[in-house]
Amino acid sequence: MGLDRREFLGAAGASAAAVAAAAVTDSAAAQPAATFPTGFLWGAATAAHQIEGNNVSSDLWLVENVKPTMFREPSGDACNSLALWPTDLDLARDMGLNAYRFSIEWARIEPEPGLFSPAMLDHYQAVIDGCRARGLKPVVTFSHFSAPRWFAARGGWTNPEAPDLFARYCDRAARRLAANMGAAVTLNEPNMITVVGEVLPPQMIGLVRDMNAAAGRACGSTNFKNAMLPEVADIPTAQTHMIAAHKAGRAAIKAARGDLPVGVSLTMSDDQAVGENSVRDAKRAQFYGPWLEAAKADDFLGVQNYARAQWNDKGQVPPPKGAKLNGMGAEIYPPSLAGAVRYAHAATGVPILVTEHGLSTGDDAQRAAFIPAALAGLQKAVAEGVPVQGYIHWSLIDNFEWVFGYSQHFGLHSVDRATFKRTAKPSAAVLAAIARRNAV
Ligand code: BGC
Repeated sequence: MGLDRREFLGAAGASAAAVAAAAVTDSAAAQPAATFPTGFLWGAATAAHQIEGNNVSSDLWLVENVKPTMFREPSGDACNSLALWPTDLDLARDMGLNAYRFSIEWARIEPEPGLFSPAMLDHYQAVIDGCRARGLKPVVTFSHFSAPRWFAARGGWTNPEAPDLFARYCDRAARRLAANMGAAVTLNEPNMITVVGEVLPPQMIGLVRDMNAAAGRACGSTNFKNAMLPEVADIPTAQTHMIAAHKAGRAAIKAARGDLPVGVSLTMSDDQAVGENSVRDAKRAQFYGPWLEAAKADDFLGVQNYARAQWNDKGQVPPPKGAKLNGMGAEIYPPSLAGAVRYAHAATGVPILVTEHGLSTGDDAQRAAFIPAALAGLQKAVAEGVPVQGYIHWSLIDNFEWVFGYSQHFGLHSVDRATFKRTAKPSAAVLAAIARRNAV
């Protein structure tokens, strides 16, 4: 569609062996080993809609299958992880990781308003227990972009009842599932909507509206608003309701289990000022401000970083000439992780958990070099005193990349689209070695 990740979704050399070897040699020769704190979480992440398959009660399943749609292809069977979740957990265990981030699917747990499914709650309980059995701390996201179809049919996040509806779901899910969780994330990247609103070109603005209208016609709603891709006019209301939903969801989870760490995850670029009168600080206020304020009352902030953004006095500056670009058209820039983490902590004062960081590329050697380079920067920030609880890579497996369908590859493992067989890529061994050493 000619748009990069940032426009749709986002904040929008050397071989792996050489980079890893250089890092090891440097630390061995000159300084103490670049270690991370004891108990540091090393994980990989997924999200329900992107891996489970056949999420037929969700809003996104519907918008993927109407005309017009913004989606390149429907999610279909995804990675068949509803059945193959034990295999996924084995992949994480076999890498020596000690954390797995995944999401529970609201549309499965509450497929009709007020109708909760004990069987699906049992399913997610089994996944959580399966993590524990493999030494993986379950970091559980309650809503990762998708929502029940009925929720979207009632106006999605524009509905004034949305915060209460979300809190009711959090209450039911947490009462059943919280006991064995390691950490809870209420909403995934709820600030994405402000970023999308900023960059969506006019033809796309119309397409979101038409897609929602088509979905509404298909399910008898005159006010269908999918939970992920906003209509521009709805963004301020949706943001207000999502912040209220985060707070109400957090309270519901805490009521079920007071000692469970709860936070929200935000999409955050490493925003850099270029020249005089840069708009960088204004952009930070716009994209993150209200959420950073809300996060001050959380136990941690989930940072999800994929790139840097450079801002001059007029707006965003394109990547430097000759820069290597990732599969979504953004510059490959490993130091962005530490930059985003430093800012997130400075702005909130709360501990940081890197809940996502990764690279879209068909060339795994790029990923294998990117991971240690980014982690070397993160380790420096930790050594300087920034409280970082862990690093969770996006993604454990190649999966359904939203509007881009299956065309983007973020996985540490590939997935055969016909057999669903998972195969480790060399980058999985690179992250595994770092995790096992707890050092870059
Ligand atoms: C999301 C993931 C997504 C990833 C790569 C984040 O925006 O949380 O669901 O697949 O980035 O684009």
